[in-house]
Amino acid sequence: MAPENKKLLTWVDDMAALCQPDNIIWCDGSDAEWFSMWDLMVKSGTARKVNEKKRPNSYHVNSIPADVARVEDRTYICSKKEKDAGPTNNWADPTEMRKTMKSMFTNCMKGRTMYVIPFSMGPIGSDIAQIGVEISDSPYVVTNMHTMARVGNDVLDMLGHDGDFVPCLHSVGMPLIDGNKDVPWPCNPDNRYIVHYPETREIWSFGSGYGGNALLGKKCFALRIASTMGRDEGWMAEHMLILKLTNPEGIVEYIAGAFPSACGKTNLAMLTPTIPGWKVETIGDDIAWMKFGQDGQLYAINPEAGFFGVAPGTGMATNANAMLSMESNTIFTNVAETDDGDVWWEGMTKEPPTHLIDWQGNDWSPDLDTLSSHPNARFTARANQCPVIADEWEDPKGVPISAILFGGRRASVVPLVTEALNWNHGTFLGTIVASETTAAAFGNVGQLRRDPMAMLPFCGYNMADYWDHWLKMGKTEGAIMPRIYYVNWFRKNEAGEFMWPGYGENSRVLKWIFERCTGSVEAVETAIGNMPTDNGIDFNGLDMSDKNIANLMCVDTKGWLSELQSIEEYYDTFGEHLPAELRTQILALRERLESTKQAVA
Ligand code: GTP
Ligand code: SPV
Ligand code: MN
Repeated sequence: MAPENKKLLTWVDDMAALCQPDNIIWCDGSDAEWFSMWDLMVKSGTARKVNEKKRPNSYHVNSIPADVARVEDRTYICSKKEKDAGPTNNWADPTEMRKTMKSMFTNCMKGRTMYVIPFSMGPIGSDIAQIGVEISDSPYVVTNMHTMARVGNDVLDMLGHDGDFVPCLHSVGMPLIDGNKDVPWPCNPDNRYIVHYPETREIWSFGSGYGGNALLGKKCFALRIASTMGRDEGWMAEHMLILKLTNPEGIVEYIAGAFPSACGKTNLAMLTPTIPGWKVETIGDDIAWMKFGQDGQLYAINPEAGFFGVAPGTGMATNANAMLSMESNTIFTNVAETDDGDVWWEGMTKEPPTHLIDWQGNDWSPDLDTLSSHPNARFTARANQCPVIADEWEDPKGVPISAILFGGRRASVVPLVTEALNWNHGTFLGTIVASETTAAAFGNVGQLRRDPMAMLPFCGYNMADYWDHWLKMGKTEGAIMPRIYYVNWFRKNEAGEFMWPGYGENSRVLKWIFERCTGSVEAVETAIGNMPTDNGIDFNGLDMSDKNIANLMCVDTKGWLSELQSIEEYYDTFGEHLPAELRTQILALRERLESTKQAVA
């Protein structure tokens, strides 16, 4: 099909003139295209076909150690004013950055093919969906986009002559010039730029071929650009899973949850409940776009079409539904190869195979002290292959959200579950989320940092203005806002072990939240919010000491008071952008904590 959209044709012409590819291919998202990309990548040594008998139509790709995760320090928000990017983002002057980008992209696709990938984030035609077009010189990006977004001619049809789209330009940044030979994983780690122009809604990404750096529909568009769209247009783009929870009587509630990268969204989204009669089904595992419906409720869609999930730790014992989603048609990145041509990673099975080829191509055996797979190794699997994908996962109107969960990796202070007193208090809880860093971003792992609403790396504008947007959403006339919960699956005991079994057992907490939403269970009001009564959560049958349970459920008044101090220091970094309501929340919390302290004393 010949594209007719004027803006698109002009943009592709301009970018081709800048990047000077050897040829241009318009992608149609077809199976034929998928196979031809893989043929190319297998021939070039980029990819290996996984044993067809083990996993039909699946491929294994390894990157290089310098290009294994999002690069937050090379991610830029280029708003006209620095204060509109805010203190948590890397800001760069858009005019200056455009010059830099122009020079980086000049001739950058010489010797390569430019792929033009029209895609829809969200079911094509949904009021909540958005269209983007990614230009990339990476066939690996093309195939991943096939799975992660809706790619093809339907999108061009939607665009028509003068429809709008978000232009997303990507290059691995390694032109084949001056006798340069291609390599299995082309990239340019010394010159990486993941650049966003929120005002003109453009993305320019250079030098990385990995994940969120390169699959521009995901974090760059669906979170950074979309969050600014949401602010301007009265909706929300969030780093959230969406799940459908059905109780034994068949009543349904939809729950969304924001957890930082590699903190359990995919697992929660497809969890197998351990409590009888309850059912979890998946709507989405990473991103939610939410708009008000006619009835005043927030309706969420999953803008993605696949899962780009963390492989390590994923196995039949922890996340069977993820394992079953990747039995075919799946891309594996930075995992190990088994002797029979399948894939393996830490945590897939209890006993590791006796021999593997690790993600860097070396022989591996369990007696070595290296990991066979990179901690941020990923699988790219089609959402419709998930055995518990909900029937309505592609409903263009979305699903009404009853509850929003916030969580993160907190070894101390934060209890298993707390319910916000109201929307403003819940927003406050979102702003104070802190979590230990994970391998999902390049850099140190295990360091506690503030990650408000799990959006620290993904908010396309000033974080404090984003909080204000949350507060404003709650003030919308006729709004019926979701209840908000703060959960923590990652509390540790003195020995440094997780106190809570997590995974399927999280259904016990989901049940309590569900019953709060339907009004069928009581709570106790504490200084930090509403908490379960003594037998509000069913701990029966868990291998947990009473001491551990008490620890998980207690209000650590001292811990919270010292936490308050660090929150205030954090808030101060936002200056006058900080919404006054959040100061009010801090004061009220301090007062409540001080009075419990007196009561205890
Ligand atoms: P991104 O895709 O990076 O956004 O990650 P995510 O939030 O979807 O995290 P995911 O569900 O992939 O989990 C990341 C890691 O945390 C995996 O190794 C999981 O096995 C582990 N994990 C998930 N849920 C739990 C839990 O309830 N308890 C514990 N202890 N670990 C968990
Ligand atoms: C995350 O880091 O939150 C991810 C992986 O979902 S990436 O797509 O690389 O951002
Ligand atoms: Mn994520």
